[in-house]
Amino acid sequence: MSAHFEADWLSLREPVDARARSKELAERLARRWPEENRLRIVDLGAGHGSNQRWLAPRLPQSQHWTLVDHDPQLLAWAEATRLPERVSTQASIANLGNWPLPGDPAPDLVTASAFFDLASKALIDRLAAELAEHQCAGLFALSVDGHWACLDAGGSPLQDPETEQLRTLFNRHQQQDKGLGQALGPEAARFLPACLEQAGMVVTQQPSPWLLPAGDDSLVPLARQLLAGWAEAAREQANHEGLAAAWIDGWHRRLLDDLLAGQLGLSVGHVDVLALPAE
Ligand SMILES: C[S@@+](CC[C@H](N)C(=O)[O-])C[C@H]1O[C@@H](n2cnc3c(N)ncnc32)[C@H](O)[C@@H]1O
Repeated sequence: MSAHFEADWLSLREPVDARARSKELAERLARRWPEENRLRIVDLGAGHGSNQRWLAPRLPQSQHWTLVDHDPQLLAWAEATRLPERVSTQASIANLGNWPLPGDPAPDLVTASAFFDLASKALIDRLAAELAEHQCAGLFALSVDGHWACLDAGGSPLQDPETEQLRTLFNRHQQQDKGLGQALGPEAARFLPACLEQAGMVVTQQPSPWLLPAGDDSLVPLARQLLAGWAEAAREQANHEGLAAAWIDGWHRRLLDDLLAGQLGLSVGHVDVLALPAE
């Protein structure tokens, strides 16, 4: 199975991603190089360019980005982004299942956002080994950690057995092969930093959760798509495992009604990881 992402979905999440991401890790990264350096940067699973739009203006150095993705339409959108003059961009249509990293000489920075839940252990192992070998920095944002919750109007997590059951199914669905070997799903949020550390990198993590409070109309389109996506994945997983799935439609309707009535919020856990070569 290959992972396909709609530009609409990526656009809906972009402003929420931007608020959630760790500014502190980006600042620490920016301080790593003298301002007059020209950085070579590779963005894995770049999609329509959201990671570059967020990070490029935060790095004072001039930059050449290679945006890697297997979806040419998303990359065409990314290439049309207006960025500061010190930033140049090249798109590379490639399947990231076929390593190695693009770039000769090796890049100064390899980055990705919302990507590693799709990746396998083997891919992360190879990435960590290459970063350490070539002394590249890594900034990997917004890896889902599996801790999402439905919130009541006061912001407290709902204690709801159906939601628990749905989350378990969804997290197992995340671990199906998405075209890059068996996906780690939410396990990636723990495996990625551990693996980078084991390869000898100096690793710092920060939480970067989404918080979509009940009653914020501007967040309803994103929350609506999240609920629909969770329900669809859970349904597929239940069918795949031969489990009952009929209740999932009822769960979805119940939560959608609460969302539209301004009575339901959502939170989604993520982590950001900065990995620097040991001095
Ligand atoms: C959740 S999206 C994140 C996109 C972007 N980084 C962002 O933050 O908006 C995951 C991206 O990984 C890309 N992708 C998934 N599997 C891939 C593969 N095997 N090779 C290359 N890109 C892949 C998808 O096309 C998609 O753009």
